[in-house]
Amino acid sequence: MNIKKGVFAMIASTILAGSAAAAEKSIVIYFSHTGENYSVGVITEGNTAKVAKEIARQTGAAIHEIKEAEPYPVKYNACIDRAKKELQAKARPAIQGEIPDLSAYDTIYLGYPNWWGDAPMVVYSFLDKAKIDGKAILPFCTHEGSGLGTTARNLAKAFPKAKVEQKGLALRGATAQKDPTAVKKAVAEWLKSIGRTK
Ligand SMILES: Cc1cc2nc3c(=O)[nH]c(=O)nc-3n(C[C@H](O)[C@H](O)[C@H](O)COP(=O)(O)O)c2cc1C
Repeated sequence: MNIKKGVFAMIASTILAGSAAAAEKSIVIYFSHTGENYSVGVITEGNTAKVAKEIARQTGAAIHEIKEAEPYPVKYNACIDRAKKELQAKARPAIQGEIPDLSAYDTIYLGYPNWWGDAPMVVYSFLDKAKIDGKAILPFCTHEGSGLGTTARNLAKAFPKAKVEQKGLALRGATAQKDPTAVKKAVAEWLKSIGRTK
């Protein structure tokens, strides 16, 4: 066999496999609430949604939004009341639509707002039904002071067969909503810190 050709083929296939892995095997899955928000007024695109889209842009990952079947209230106080009741009851509110087939993905960037120190229960509803055993779960959240809280630990405990990264990304909701440059920078730094730069 021509050694030069063989070496070239090996290098080419390694490069192709590397870029395909980055682009095809990751998906951003997020939940984000619109309506009356804690610090940024009434919003039509959620804070977490903005971060989710930036992660998908920088990684080339696919993207999927988790939606609840029965919409969370637009009014802030009503929303926090329902969220608190769901958390206390460890409820699993119904999801709108089908759970996507995740078999093609080995990495999930999982985004949510910090609600009462945890991920919204509807995120757990989704994860209970999606087949995530063996997959890497990379959490990111927006919040107004609590950061990730114990969310990464809670997820690791709830889904012990998934590999939940404990170094999640936490961004202030107001920053996510109003400062795209800061979001870009924070996402790039986080991806680098967890070895996920494309
Ligand atoms: C039901 C509810 C509970 C919340 N609980 C917390 C909290 O415990 N700690 C915190 O820092 N922010 C809390 N927040 C603020 C949100 O985490 C923050 O506004 C977030 O950016 C909203 O993201 P979203 O627009 O993607 O839904 C809460 C907001 C809501 C609606």
